[in-house]
Order: sequence, then structure tokens, then C-alpha cells
Amino acid sequence: MSSQGATLPPHVLIFPLPIQGHVNSMLNLAELLCLSSLDITFMVSDFSHTRLLKHTTIASRFERYAGFSFQSISDGLPYDHPRAGDQIMDMLPSTKNITGPLFKQMMLEKNLFASESRRPITCIIADGVLSFAGDFAEEKGIPLIYFRTISACSFWAYLRIPELIEAGEISVKGIGMDQIVQSVPGMEGFLRARDLPSFCRVNNINEPILHTVYSVAEQTTRAQAVIFNTFEDLEGPIVSHIRKHIPRLFTIGPNHSHLKSRLAEKTAENSILSGSFWAEDRSCLDWLNAQPPKSVIYVSFGSITVVSREQLLEFWHGLVNSGHRFLWVMRPDSIVGEGGKSQIPKELEEGTSARGYMVGWAPQEEVLNHEAVGGFLTHSGWNSTLESIVAGVPMICWPYFADQTTNSRFVSEVWKIGLDMKDTCDREIIEKVVREIMKERKEEFLERGQNMAKLARKAVSEGGSSYCNLDALIDYIKTMII
Ligand code: UDX
Repeated sequence: MSSQGATLPPHVLIFPLPIQGHVNSMLNLAELLCLSSLDITFMVSDFSHTRLLKHTTIASRFERYAGFSFQSISDGLPYDHPRAGDQIMDMLPSTKNITGPLFKQMMLEKNLFASESRRPITCIIADGVLSFAGDFAEEKGIPLIYFRTISACSFWAYLRIPELIEAGEISVKGIGMDQIVQSVPGMEGFLRARDLPSFCRVNNINEPILHTVYSVAEQTTRAQAVIFNTFEDLEGPIVSHIRKHIPRLFTIGPNHSHLKSRLAEKTAENSILSGSFWAEDRSCLDWLNAQPPKSVIYVSFGSITVVSREQLLEFWHGLVNSGHRFLWVMRPDSIVGEGGKSQIPKELEEGTSARGYMVGWAPQEEVLNHEAVGGFLTHSGWNSTLESIVAGVPMICWPYFADQTTNSRFVSEVWKIGLDMKDTCDREIIEKVVREIMKERKEEFLERGQNMAKLARKAVSEGGSSYCNLDALIDYIKTMII
């Protein structure tokens, strides 16, 4: 390398699974590393890249970082393949079988993205579910760090699947769902079979998905280090169990809040530009401006959840009957069954103006931090959970799948900052939990929520655990330059 080359910064390749929650948290990680002057190549699927360019100012978000560039690659699915509901699971084989070989070819043809001004990739930070990126890193001797975008508690449950099977604690055909499981250290007193990640609900113990999700978790341990989007005051006791398997584990979250605090420190800015795959309808902020403080329940089920017409109606009646105001995100592809969005009952579309407001996609973080919002009815996706925690907004959890079923149990039983209505979708229950969160137990939940929010902010402020861990991670990445 020339004498000029020897002074070039590390060059990190960041590669998320192309799903909204994963991309958001890894874009935030990318920007955190850019702020420390690392060069970044961010690998994103063609599908999500097109949507990012269409619906956001993502290009201008990163153009101030000379060392940042996007590379796009196929996610292996046809462009019109649904990327929600059960069909999202097609992305695991498609990325493995199609994206994996394309990635390898691209890395080799482009000489690990080296140029006059950039080193060849010095480290790969891959989403923990993209095992092919780990295979490539191993084959070429490139240092590998995995980023797990899910909670530490759900990851730990995945890692314990062999012990859960051995102890007969996985629910087969729905039997024993309310049994407390004993095979996940740190969760012995309160975790029921129904709170395990949803892939642990099987019809027979040999079901491939159970073994696939375990092997994906287990292969994470081969990386030189693993990053979690969490913080020690939230999940420290669980993280200490994982550290026995992954000693170099960096908790640096909540990433969105961490990025805000570092941006404010380094650039006097404190807002993050959106990385949404859908156009944000900002009219809901005007509507919120006209509502009293803490009077609105925000309803959003993230980027993948789908609901049936029947479920939609239960939510609608439950919300209306609760007597509280609501802001509801109804993603265009979120209603299943014949007719899709045209199934939205007329009463629902027409009736929202009085006490409710509906949008296709919201600027969620801004909404959660709006003073009119007093509760969040959520699918318990990990980013939504963290965003709610930082905003100090109590949650009603209606987990849809994967890690969400474990997250919701921690929200209600461990952190006690919300209620979990897992596995029910009934208008009377919805009415009851909305009333509890928004009125009857409002003060209690708000107080605990705000205490947790303080701890989250402390973690990402100078001297906090996530703040120090990010510095340690960056120092570690710098040692990887040969
Ligand atoms: C996926 C998985 O489903 C989830 O289990 C895992 O924890 C993370 O990845 P997703 O549905 O994308 O989750 O949910 P989540 O992690 O909550 O991320 C959704 C993101 O979209 C959040 O950052 C949220 O702020 C954003 N969002 C959501 C919006 O910006 N506007 C909206 O209207 C809804």
C-alpha cells in the first residue's frame, strides 16, 4: 500500500436483511461509524434501495460523509413478491441461495470495494441472519462482526432451543402453552412456552423452522464480535448469559437515540433523516397538534404484520368503545384476504375523523415523541419497542411473530412498562387494555416508562454504557487493519 493508503481509515461493509426494522437500525449504526470517520459500504437490496430513494431523502442524509456509499443487490425475490405476512419468510432461502452467490461474485469482481481513496473492506458487519456473509468472511479471512437486530432476550431464547427440546418445554400442537419454562436461564420465573419466539410453536419437534432458527442463532457465535441494539440497564442480566457464549459482545443501543446524541455532539443536529420504505404521511402530526396532552393511543404493527378483516374490526370496535382518541397506521399491504385494502369497512374509513386518524405510514419516532401521544398499541418489533422506551410511552403489545412474542413478555412482566395481549384479538379485551393504559393505570405506567426512558438516554450519553461500548467497538474495528 502507498504511504497515502497507509493512512486511510478502516472500511466496513454493513449488510442488513432488507426488512424495514433491520435496515433502520443498521443505517443508524452506519451513520454512527461515519461520524467517527470510518469508510462504509452499505449493502441494500435493489427493492429497498428503490423505495428508499423514492420515499426519503436518504441520499442527502449520507452525502455529507465522503466515505459512505450504497451498493445494491437482489434479495432473490421477484419485484412483485409480497414482502409481508408469512411470505416474508421466503426471504431467508432467497437471500441464502441467490443473494449469497451474487454477493461473493460482487465482492471479488469489485476487489472488496477498494479504490484510490478506500482500502479494500477491512471488516464485515453482517446481519446475524445472513450466514452466507459469515461464510464469505471466513473463506477470505476478513474479520466478521454480526449485528443482531433483535432483543438480547429473544436471542438468548433462540440459543437455548436444544435445551428447551431436551426438557420437553417447546409447545407441540399448542399443548402446554402456559407452562413456565425452566431451560432459559434468567427467565425461569415468568417465561411461558407461549412467550418463546413464535417459531418455537410447532406441530412436531422435527419441524425444520425450529432447527433453522437455532442454527442461525448458533452460527452467530463464530463471529469475532457481536453487536446488540440494546442497553445494559434494560437487558444486562440476560446479556451476561449470552456473554458466556460470545465474550466480545457490544451493547450500543438504542441506536436511534445513540445516533441523535452523537449527532448533537458532533454536528449540532439532533434529528435523523428517515429511512422509510413507505412515504411518511406527516398530516398526522397536524392532527396530533390539535389533541390534548397524552390523550392519543398510537396504533402501528410495523412493516411485516398483516391482519384479517375480522381482526381489523375487533381493533376498530375495541378502540372506538374505549372512548379514547387514536392514530392508526394502516400499511397499504397490511390487510390479508380477498380484496386487500378494499376490505376496510366503510364505517372505519368514515368514522375516523371524530376521534381517530388513519395514515398509511407515519413518521413513527416523531409521533411517539409528540406530547399528545399517551400509549402505543404495537406488534412489539424490537425497533418499535426501543423507540417507545426512549419516548417513555407505555405499550399495549400485540405480537405478531418471531422475537416479538418474547419482547412483549419482557415489556409486561420484567420492565412493567406495558400490557401484553398476546394470542387474543377481542374487542372487549382491546377496550379494557386501552382504558387501563390510557386512564385507569396511566400514572403508574407513565412513571415507570419515564424512568426507563431516562436510563436509555443515560446509556447513550457521554460516559454511559452504550456510549463507551460504541467507542470500544470502533477501537476494535481500527485494530483490524493489517
Ligand atoms: C422486523 C421484525 O418483524 C421484528 O420482529 C424484529 O424485531 C425487527 O425486524 P418490523 O416489522 O420491521 O420488524 O418492526 P420494527 O422492528 O418495530 O421496525 C419498524 C420500523 O419502522 C421502526 O423503526 C419504526 O419507527 C418504523 N415505522 C413503523 C415508521 O417509520 N412508520 C410507521 O408507520 C411504522
